[in-house]
Amino acid sequence: CGIVGYVGKQKAASIIIEGLKRLEYRGYDSAGVAVLQNDRIDVAKKAGRVEILAKEAARHRFTGTTGIGHTRWATHGGVTDANAHPHVSSDGKFALIHNGVIENYSSIKKFLLSKGYTFSSETDTEALVNLIAYHYQKEPAAEDKSRFLESVRRSLMHVEGTYGIAVICTDSPGELVAARKASPLILGVGDGEFIIASDVSALISRTQNVVYLKDGELVHLTGKNFSIITQSEEDVSPIVNKVTWSAEAAEIGSFSHFMEKEIFEQPVALENAMRGRFSADGSTAQFGGLNLTPIEVRQIDRFAFCGCGTAWHACLVAEHLIERFARVPVEVDYASEFRYRNSPLDGNTLFFVVSQSGETIDTLGALREAKRKGYKVLAINNTVGSSIAREADGGIYQHVGPEIGVASTKAFTSQLLIGAMFALYVARMRDMSFSDGVEYVKALKAAPDLVRKALEQAPRIKEIAKRYAQYADMLFLGRLSLFPIALEGALKLKEISYIHAEGYPAAEMKHGPIALISEKCPSVFFAPKSEIFNKIVSSIQEIKARNGKTIVITTEGCEFPPGVADDVIYIPDCHEAVLPIVATVPVQLLSYYIACERGCDVDKPRNLAKSVTVE
Ligand code: G6P
Repeated sequence: CGIVGYVGKQKAASIIIEGLKRLEYRGYDSAGVAVLQNDRIDVAKKAGRVEILAKEAARHRFTGTTGIGHTRWATHGGVTDANAHPHVSSDGKFALIHNGVIENYSSIKKFLLSKGYTFSSETDTEALVNLIAYHYQKEPAAEDKSRFLESVRRSLMHVEGTYGIAVICTDSPGELVAARKASPLILGVGDGEFIIASDVSALISRTQNVVYLKDGELVHLTGKNFSIITQSEEDVSPIVNKVTWSAEAAEIGSFSHFMEKEIFEQPVALENAMRGRFSADGSTAQFGGLNLTPIEVRQIDRFAFCGCGTAWHACLVAEHLIERFARVPVEVDYASEFRYRNSPLDGNTLFFVVSQSGETIDTLGALREAKRKGYKVLAINNTVGSSIAREADGGIYQHVGPEIGVASTKAFTSQLLIGAMFALYVARMRDMSFSDGVEYVKALKAAPDLVRKALEQAPRIKEIAKRYAQYADMLFLGRLSLFPIALEGALKLKEISYIHAEGYPAAEMKHGPIALISEKCPSVFFAPKSEIFNKIVSSIQEIKARNGKTIVITTEGCEFPPGVADDVIYIPDCHEAVLPIVATVPVQLLSYYIACERGCDVDKPRNLAKSVTVE
């Protein structure tokens, strides 16, 4: 879900709706805005996209300069106008927007019902806004305190669960209170105005000066000023940071979709991710933020990697490369499973969590669980100031700028690159020779250009996509480091085109998935030049023998017996560490063009959210 709040001199509604449009990728079941107008709260909210809300808001002719807005990704309660945020307390005094889940909402609701408060939605959020109204009525604050802030603070002391909230109150025009626990919240400090948002992209067009709020903090915006306190009423001295990317980075430019833009941005994204990260002698990688001494790196017995979705696929490739080149065992877990499965851990294990947003609650939970057990946890992350970036003991930023398309592209390939660089770093601390290191570094430096070359295949892949857009099922098959890329290709296709797709190790296909093969189920094969090239060709032939269509992604110079590949896509031949990156490009393009061909909403696929901040 996305949060935007505004306090300033301009009309709040249009600034909020503009922010919501930029946040739409975080959730788009429904959207709403509430503005303080002449001592009352006026709300417009609608199921569906922000565009629909914008039309509804135009009818309200909002003029107030204090307001809040929200895009929803439903957890409690269906997708309806009534369940959309903001929610207003039954006395009409407060409006609130909320990300997260209030776990004890039913007991709060029961209590409030007994006190005469009424409810008009099925959401957990409405319990909180009424609880604030209850505290406001019942417990006037001491003289020197804001009654508004106090009622929010006291209410949150009764809440179990997670939240990022923003609240406005009819008695306090020009004021806003926001608070967070495990849900991101950022304060933009503008010129005579403040914007509160769950994501930098919602406020970047108005200011680059931001304060990243921490868990358990409340911020009170009062016209010209703001103050931050903790739940236990300690004052917090805010640190104002400057966001390094500009508003244009979050603009779509001349592309049809953010996903398309981000696919084509990958050569530059990779350059940014590796900048300054090679040693002067050109034989290894170096990272500023690992907080590890060389001897500590040498003493690591095992790595454990956790992530979700696409990031989990990046973990699998890192596993392959670290084991292959650094010869250190690696374990990969889904973050959501790691938290609860109580896996036995070795003493000298180093943890990595991988997360583009740095806000995925499952990944954050895995990080906390590993830290609870005393392990050092590093993060591969794209979002400065995010919860994961803050709570990790160090890590590596991806530096690829904002990723807006829900289906991850440039963030994924940069995670692959960082994994490959990290494998090199550890390998060179151990047994990899200087000359092998130099060769590896050269290969990594060539990655952006190889991706540029792979992108030249776009027109051809677009043509191929037209012929495969109407199938209902598809298999993606690859081996070794390209098995995770087969998983990623299948995930991309599922996410944005709603075609059922599965990724499998190519040789494993004959142990089950082959039952699916017919003229109705095509397969995408990764068959690059390698020692097992002939074995992959045999697997393709097994598909052909059962009338399955095949799209084969291979490296330049490889040839196939007649009738084996219905369509061939060539990528440049490259080093093993770079191959997963380059091989990702054609499957990204294939799913993108298939989804376009099917008329799907590529950047906002149904039911998905870019960053999932609930368990
Ligand atoms: C969501 C997105 C996926 C993403 C995953 C992990 O499920 O829809 O595309 O891969 O979260 O996101 P993260 O920000 O932690 O990398």
